[in-house]
Amino acid sequence: MALSSVELQPRIGSQVMISRDELLSGEYAQEIRALLVQRGVLVIRGIDLDDDQQRRFARTMGDLRLGSVKKEGEEGLMKVTLDKKENPEYAQFFFGSQLWHMDGTYEECPPFATMLTPRVLANEGGDTEFTNNYATYEDLAEEEKTRLDTLQVVHTMQAALFPAKRDCTPEEFALWCAYPVRKHPLVWHHKSGRKSLVLSTSASYVVGMHPAESHDLLTRLMNHATAPKYVYRHKWRMGDLLMWDNTGTMHRVLPFDEASGRRLHRFTLNGEEQITATV
Ligand code: OGA
Ligand code: MN
Repeated sequence: MALSSVELQPRIGSQVMISRDELLSGEYAQEIRALLVQRGVLVIRGIDLDDDQQRRFARTMGDLRLGSVKKEGEEGLMKVTLDKKENPEYAQFFFGSQLWHMDGTYEECPPFATMLTPRVLANEGGDTEFTNNYATYEDLAEEEKTRLDTLQVVHTMQAALFPAKRDCTPEEFALWCAYPVRKHPLVWHHKSGRKSLVLSTSASYVVGMHPAESHDLLTRLMNHATAPKYVYRHKWRMGDLLMWDNTGTMHRVLPFDEASGRRLHRFTLNGEEQITATV
């Protein structure tokens, strides 16, 4: 049986209609992967998975990122929340999710995909937006594509986080600076043959370019890549399962009240290919 789906926006996002048993059987995993890479974001409404089921599904889709297991039954589980009691180690970084980003640009091989299930939602705000970095590359003029093809960009954690927290402490800034600095091509030539822009708030500067020109180029591309026609805005409902292809999209969360306790449970799949250029 073919997978049943409808497009959410012309350039990004599909809703998939599938039962919990079908999803967990793994029978559709290859089809779901193919659709995910094609559409950037997939949404399943009302599937209502618990942590074990979400983990089992993630394992059918790829190489589950295990992380450090803090408690029995929490293998691979990341609690996406600003509440330090729920996530003592990482809650301090999630404020940065309000800026357009790819996850893990400080890694050699950024995560392939991520799956989220809401556990606590804010009454207001907290929608998540996604943009399609394949579509935004494809729509550039041919001469610009050629020009961008050879450029390399330096990504840093401080570039990613500082704009969202100008009142950080020197200690916080030092912690961000301790993360690896990565140089990635601006255009990703995927093994599939398709190309996408590698854009994220972590993009600090273009190698070998005057800082003003580099700043203007990255700002212009970011504005282009986040134009409404490339964006899908997800309004969360309890019971949702949402996944995104982290190698071909950016995402951000819209502001919400920290006191709401907003919390989503996340499982992530390890990256399968390094970001490569033609040369
Ligand atoms: C993430 C992320 C967005 C959200 O988990 O990497 O950016 O809506 N989450 O919380
Ligand atoms: Mn993120």
